[in-house]
Amino acid sequence: METAEIRRRFLNHFEREGHTVVPSASLVSPDPTLLFTVAGMVPFIPYLTGRETPPYKRAASVQKCVRTLDIDEVGKTTRHGTFFQMNGNFSFGDYFKEGAIAYAWDLITKPQSDGGYGFDPDKIWVTVYQQDDEAAALWNRVADIPYERIQRRGKKDNYWHTGQPGPGGPCSEIYVDRGPEYGRDGGPIVDEDRFLEIWNLVFMQEAVTEVKAKDDFRVVGDLPNKNIDTGMGLERVAFLLQGVENMYEIDQMMPVIERAAELSGKKYGRHAKGDPGYDDDVRMRVIADHVRSALMLIGDGVAPSNEARGYVVRRLLRRSVRAMRLLGVDEPVADVTLAQVL
Ligand code: GLY
Repeated sequence: METAEIRRRFLNHFEREGHTVVPSASLVSPDPTLLFTVAGMVPFIPYLTGRETPPYKRAASVQKCVRTLDIDEVGKTTRHGTFFQMNGNFSFGDYFKEGAIAYAWDLITKPQSDGGYGFDPDKIWVTVYQQDDEAAALWNRVADIPYERIQRRGKKDNYWHTGQPGPGGPCSEIYVDRGPEYGRDGGPIVDEDRFLEIWNLVFMQEAVTEVKAKDDFRVVGDLPNKNIDTGMGLERVAFLLQGVENMYEIDQMMPVIERAAELSGKKYGRHAKGDPGYDDDVRMRVIADHVRSALMLIGDGVAPSNEARGYVVRRLLRRSVRAMRLLGVDEPVADVTLAQVL
């Protein structure tokens, strides 16, 4: 299934359930505490905190996001991208845990012929926050997931906030088992390559401050409403539904890998770590990711520079050029010049 179709199905599903479809906001975060839009919820922060009254109770979006924290993992794992699209549904004091779980389950398991994604229910695992008995019971009752496939994790994995003071809450993550050929048994707490996280449902109900790390922050109190904020990795769902091996090989990214291979005369080949050819594969995946992120940032008005946002663009471009050089390409190869896109 094409990435564009996965996106369409997501928005159609939630529109049918009374959500207002909201276009993606800019990658330049509307929230002054954040450099970039790091999640689908960022444009909705004023509604989640209660600072502003939302014009709707339910919303859905496909949000452009940039996160550079894991930049060194790009190309080496199946799933780390500096640019990605996040499908999200949001409830501002409307439905809560049960609704979020029911809507998510319906979309991922509904047959493709009925507009869903058609994942096999027996391959779905979920995690819930350590003390969240309610979410565990709902997964069991609403989705019929046996308790053996409902795992519990602490704050580091199952509590979500932006990394800045603001809204936060316990979360529940949905994983797809890719099969024993991809890793060890035992669910996501054992192996997150085999069990790939596709969707995070955040039960956004608290205000946090003094955020020092994912699991080091202070809860100041309850938000005015119990809200829902979810984030589904569009590229991750695409790589599972397109039967490829990682997010860089999906329909929206593979053409860049193919072009890097063509320009360098190297063959892209999914070589295993340690094999000749592996480093070149990583370089082509890095190029596919970084070129996309840099272009999307430039498209949202961020020019390369030596500080803040501009420095990130500069770093992404320099890393792409370096990867091309290591593939043996020393000459400029862009089909358009930067001056044309700025
Ligand atoms: N806001 C939910 C997520 O980014 O996972």
